[in-house]
Amino acid sequence: MTCYSRLRPLAFRLPPELAHTLGKRLLRLGQSTWPTRTALRSVYQYEHPALELERFGTQFPNPVGIAAGFDKNAECTHALEALGFGFVEIGTVTPYSQTGNEKPRLFRLQEDGAMINRMGFNGDGMEAVKERLLADSTPGVPLGVNIGKMNPSTEREAIEDYRRVFTRLNPFADYVVVNVSCPNTPDTFDENSPEHLESIFETLETENDFEVPILVKIGSDSPDESILELLEIVESHGVDGLIATNTTTSREGLQAPERDEWGGMSGAPLREQSTHVIELLASNTDLPIIGVGGVDSAESAYEKIRAGASLVQLYTGFVYNGPSTAREINKGLVELLERDGFASIEAAIGADLED
Ligand SMILES: Cc1cc2nc3c(=O)[nH]c(=O)nc-3n(C[C@H](O)[C@H](O)[C@H](O)COP(=O)(O)O)c2cc1C
Repeated sequence: MTCYSRLRPLAFRLPPELAHTLGKRLLRLGQSTWPTRTALRSVYQYEHPALELERFGTQFPNPVGIAAGFDKNAECTHALEALGFGFVEIGTVTPYSQTGNEKPRLFRLQEDGAMINRMGFNGDGMEAVKERLLADSTPGVPLGVNIGKMNPSTEREAIEDYRRVFTRLNPFADYVVVNVSCPNTPDTFDENSPEHLESIFETLETENDFEVPILVKIGSDSPDESILELLEIVESHGVDGLIATNTTTSREGLQAPERDEWGGMSGAPLREQSTHVIELLASNTDLPIIGVGGVDSAESAYEKIRAGASLVQLYTGFVYNGPSTAREINKGLVELLERDGFASIEAAIGADLED
């Protein structure tokens, strides 16, 4: 039994958003001094050469990252690195601070190993995030910056929103993610329309003096044909990679009473759907894919890698499994690679795809 499995029932008695805020405060405290950061590192980090790989011109110490939404405002990137995550994605960052949707807006579905959220892009805004990154410096592992628009923005204003956040934060980023797949922000226009996506990519490309890799985060609810159409646009605009997937509006197979809350569902029940999207993308493109959705163990991470993901991320699995999540997944991945005769993660990527 780990410390976290003893603490979890207590933590789960708190309202989810409060538990999350307290958890992040603890992490910030943990990263604030050299001895505590070193102690976290020595307990939780796991290194193995078979886990290292290069993508987007950047070296990743392992393929297990923390997904967007956990550290929206870059408050605990160093603690997340110390906990053994191979990369950290902050955001979604918007140009100005936003309060997001009314509370409660985050729900645990314990019977299902899932969560539903309708946070609605709450965050401190790009200036506060920039100041924090300058004050704390960036972590020692690759940093992704996930960017989004203000909730009330019109289609034209949204382009300007992306441009602003991109120019402000891309100097800190190893990659930037355009998030057009959040199912719990207001639908003022179709964010996935080809014209809108083209305008975003064209605008960011003209601002991309540092040639920072640009990725797009894809939803899990679109039919296969729409995903392939989006892929065509992405490829024709020289986008560097894909993140699949965001949360889902599906409630299939859920048991917990909270299943009737509206918002995006994440965690174990999303696993299969997101792996399907990864497989579909990987069968149709050579662009690197970051797989996310229901990763909570070495097996679920390996499934996504074998389906074509070069890297994986998680959020809900971290909430359920605690600080040792990245270490346990990485250890387990090395065992799975050895079992199947792969010399490295690189060799296992796409192993389940048909030729
Ligand atoms: C509370 C919460 C907030 C999230 N906020 C964001 C966000 O701001 N931007 C984003 O791209 N994804 C966001 N996500 C989605 C996650 O990055 C991830 O795609 C999704 O949760 C599936 O992964 P998981 O099953 O490991 O949680 C959020 C997820 C949760 C649970």
